[in-house]
Parts: sequence; C-alpha cells; structure tokens
Amino acid sequence: PNDWSKITLNPVLWVRFPHMVLAAYLTGAFCAAATGAWYLLRGIFSAEARVMLRMGLYFAAVLLPAQLVFGHFNGDYIHRYQPAKFAAIEGRWHDEQPASEVLIGIPDEAAETNHYSISIPVLGSVIASMSLDSKEVGLTDFPAQDRPPVAIPFFTFRIMVGCWGIMLLIAWFGSYLIHKERIEHYRLLLWATFLSFPLPFIAILSGWVTAEVGRQPWVVYGVLRTADGVTPFLSTQTVMVSLAVYCVVYTFIFTFGTYYIYRLLRTGPVGSLGAPPIGAVPNRPMSVIIERRTTPTSRHVPAGE
Ligand code: HEM
Repeated sequence: PNDWSKITLNPVLWVRFPHMVLAAYLTGAFCAAATGAWYLLRGIFSAEARVMLRMGLYFAAVLLPAQLVFGHFNGDYIHRYQPAKFAAIEGRWHDEQPASEVLIGIPDEAAETNHYSISIPVLGSVIASMSLDSKEVGLTDFPAQDRPPVAIPFFTFRIMVGCWGIMLLIAWFGSYLIHKERIEHYRLLLWATFLSFPLPFIAILSGWVTAEVGRQPWVVYGVLRTADGVTPFLSTQTVMVSLAVYCVVYTFIFTFGTYYIYRLLRTGPVGSLGAPPIGAVPNRPMSVIIERRTTPTSRHVPAGE
C-alpha cells in the first residue's frame, strides 16, 4: 500500500497498540507499588506508601487479566498472518492434530526437535484455534530459509508470560491482603512487591524481541526479506559508528535518569506539591531534589492531611 493511513491504521494496530498501552500502565502500576513497598519496609512516608501500594496493586490486578486477553489476540493475529513465527513461539516442529502445548523445553534447530520438553496434549489446539482437534502447522512446513531463529522467540515469549504470571500472583495476593488490611504484616510480600518493579520492563523487552526476531527473515512478512531491505549504500562501518553513538548517548541518558529517579524516590514526597522549592531552576533538574533536602521551610505533609 502507498497510503499512510492504511499502513499505520492496519488491523494489527487494534491488538498490538492496546497490548503496548497496557504494558506501559502495568509498568507505572508496578513502579508505584514497589516504591510504596520500599517506603513501608523502611518505615518512612507510611501514609503515602499505603496509597501507592494500594493504587499500584489494585490497578495491576485489573490490568493483568486484560493483558492476557490482548496477548491472546496478538497470538491469534500471528497464528493467522505469521504462521512460522507462531510455530517458533510454540516450539512446534511438525504438524500436529490435535496439537500439544510445549510449556518448556530446549529447541534444537539442527535436529528439528525439542529436548527435555514438557507439554500438555490438546492445549496447543485450544490456544491456537479454540478447538479440541484442530491441525496446527509445524516449522518443517516452511523451507529452512523462511524460518525464524527458533530458540530466541521460544524463550523470550516464555519470559514475557512468566513475568505476567509472577505479576498476577503479587497483584492478586497483595490486593487481597490490602483489602483485609493485613499487607503490612506480610513483609515477604512487601519485599516481593519491591523487587518486582523490573518485571514489566523485562516483559516489554522480551515481548518486543519475540515480535521482532520471530518475524525474521522477513522485514515485511512474506514479501520483503530483511536482507533485501538493507539500505544499499550503508557500510558496516557506518552502522557500527551510529550504533556506538546511540549506545553512548542512551547510556548517558539512562544513567542520569536512573540516578535522578533514585534521588527523587529517596527524597520522598516532601514539602509542598504546589510550589517548587526556593532556588530550584528549570535548567538544573537536580536542584529540585537538592533544594528540597536543604530548604528549611520544607515540611513533610502526610497524605490526606
Ligand atoms: C499471558 C500474557 C501474555 C501473552 C499471551 C502475550 C502475548 C504476546 C504475543 C503473542 C506477542 C507477539 C506479538 C507479535 O509478534 O506481533 C507479544 C508481544 C509483546 N508483549 Fe506480550 N503477552 C503477554 C504478556 C505481556 C506483558 C505482561 C507485557 C508487559 C508488561 C507484554 C508486553 C509485550 C510487548 C511490549 C510486545 C511487543 C509488541 C509489539 O512489538 O508490538 N506482554 N505478546
């Protein structure tokens, strides 16, 4: 197509975009909950910490089932339009009817099989086609040069779903304990919530890798190979230089961003939300934190007061 609206608003948007938006909200929810758990474990800012924990975990408890539904829609989409990617994610080498679901195993591309696999009969057909006896295609239906690397999407997909499962446990159990007003007695769960903040980030990265590695060797599935999509005048050296520049710039931004957020979290919800601290200037973001710590007028106003 040469129509931008057709390209950008193509049907996959309605499954991939909500999956990504939910992923972003989940990340926010877990970061808020983890910060609340961290404050409670340290015994500081308890009033705000309870609000963060409650809002974060309740929100995540609702978003996670929705993420499963949209994850399933993503699966449906690739089952229909990117069948080799689907077979690689499933670790399915040969056609099966009904198909089993490989929970875990080690794919071996040379031998076209999985080692040490654990699978559940029929579940593969149920997940792929909502049927008890559908035939599901295996990787060997595709010429070797049209298959993606199998191990990467196979494992990254399981990492994403594994993160989802752990987040669901924490969010549901945590929400239950908050509802019963018992969460502060379960320090193990507070620790789990605090340590869970990387999970949505890991899920996002592994989902992205699943999608991008899984569609290889195509840049436009079934139409344009990645190898044919390379800009002809680009040399390896140019690519290496631009990659190195990206790495340096992002390492700087990421390091500074992490340090800044860490300082903000350590300082905590201190002072007045309305007015910035005296002496804070927009072109020196750190001044917000430094000034907050040193301004004599800054006072801690607990949530709800
Ligand atoms: C049981 C739960 C989940 C299922 C069944 C699922 C399913 C999928 C599938 C099939 C894809 C590949 C889509 C494609 O190739 O076009 C995908 C990609 C992705 N997933 Fe998940 N997912 C789940 C949980 C999560 C969670 C918890 C997150 C993050 C918090 C997440 C974030 C992503 C992202 C960022 C992508 C890449 C999307 C893109 O490139 O457009 N997923 N997911």
